[in-house]
Amino acid sequence: MSQVISNAAARRDIEFHLHSQTNPLQFAEVGPIVIRRGHGARIYDSGGKEYIDAMAGLWCASLGFANERLAAAAARQYAELGFYHTFFHRTGEAAAELAEKLVAFTGMTGGKAYFATSGSEANETMVKLAWVYHAVRGKPGKRKIIARDRAFHGSTIIAASLCGLDFMHREFGLPAPGILHTLCPDPYRGMLEGEDEAAFVERLAGELERLILREGPDSVAAFIAEPINAGGGIIVPPATYFPRVQQVLRKYDVLCLDDEIVTGFGRTGSWFGKDTVGMRPDMMALAKGLSAAHFPISAVVIAPAIYEALCAINKQGGNFGHGFTNSGHPVGVAVALEAIRIYEEMDVVAHVRAMGHLLKTHFEGMARRSPIVGEVRGAGLMLGIELVEDKATRRPFAPQRNVGPTFDRIAYENGLVARCMGDVLGFSPPLIVDARDVDEIARRCDTSLRQLERTLGADAN
Ligand SMILES: Cc1ncc(COP(=O)(O)O)c(C=O)c1O
Repeated sequence: MSQVISNAAARRDIEFHLHSQTNPLQFAEVGPIVIRRGHGARIYDSGGKEYIDAMAGLWCASLGFANERLAAAAARQYAELGFYHTFFHRTGEAAAELAEKLVAFTGMTGGKAYFATSGSEANETMVKLAWVYHAVRGKPGKRKIIARDRAFHGSTIIAASLCGLDFMHREFGLPAPGILHTLCPDPYRGMLEGEDEAAFVERLAGELERLILREGPDSVAAFIAEPINAGGGIIVPPATYFPRVQQVLRKYDVLCLDDEIVTGFGRTGSWFGKDTVGMRPDMMALAKGLSAAHFPISAVVIAPAIYEALCAINKQGGNFGHGFTNSGHPVGVAVALEAIRIYEEMDVVAHVRAMGHLLKTHFEGMARRSPIVGEVRGAGLMLGIELVEDKATRRPFAPQRNVGPTFDRIAYENGLVARCMGDVLGFSPPLIVDARDVDEIARRCDTSLRQLERTLGADAN
């Protein structure tokens, strides 16, 4: 680390830069990792060391870390119109085209697409629209939002409140009032002794229904979920979970909000995660893969009923008093359109299914060999490996043994960027990986896992 820290950028960074999701004191001591350039699924640090980033950065660089076509699309748009907004009836041709594409792609026929600039803003927008929807239908008391334990929905105040992760709340006095949480559908950790999947789903649906009844159905506006939890540890719900949960939501007139910020645009082996898990949302939040993270742009796609509610406020003399300076930024929409063209040309869904299958097969081989791989799970190129102390009983390692972070450190030394979420190792590589990249991710992962096993064995003795 000291060789990397010795350059001027690192010193400046320590002195002036406050980092996201970073312990400030540890950062001041250890310093930054300076990433200088990218090529395909690979990144290179300031010392020239190469890594495969098997997390696509933050689940987002779906087309790798330097894409010439995206750069050219941005350059063309910058040369013509580097900024304009979408307030007060303004638009651009690309914004209109992207909105049409998103409505068609998501299957929200008759609906609309709204643009924002981050995933958190998209989720906050869905919450505000849910409030409007109920208010104009004469139910202004329906304002509470139900999220799930271990969810991640962003960092602004409501989005952070929606998270079901203590580290997003603790220092900030969150969650905000009116944000509730229900159980996470994690079959590996959540199923009780003797419970099968059907009984597990019934119990989760029953818990949700009891929560709605306890709070009062007239106070509950919406339920929000990632089709497959990302930051909470790659959690794939049982196939009947969303259909059953949505029966409960419909019974109490509670909207279903779909956070597709990680799972959208091919990541799970379908265009959207909702299709992988059988979810039928009223609104969808899109970001990350929308522009392959080459520009900060997000979107909310809404069903016609939500749009009709908005029109109703207009008829009552009101306005949609919402918007971000960079909503529908011309460069952002140009980059997103180009990203979607590339996804279509590469047949992203088929490619992700094939590469995801290959990577999962490698991981399943490791699970058979390794004494500490409890489960391999996920869909498409969104895979998790859960490490456990005892495979038979699923007993986890004690948190103070820092097993996940130790894997991350070893993998990093071996030129592999993964991401531990507790003791779940997350893999969400750029969707452009080919079979050789996948084999190399698996090779570096296996080497790192064997080193970790030796370290833990040595610890145990
Ligand atoms: C599922 C999910 N939703 C929302 C967000 C928030 O997106 P942003 O960081 O762009 O605000 C993230 C970020 O990782 C996410 O993983």
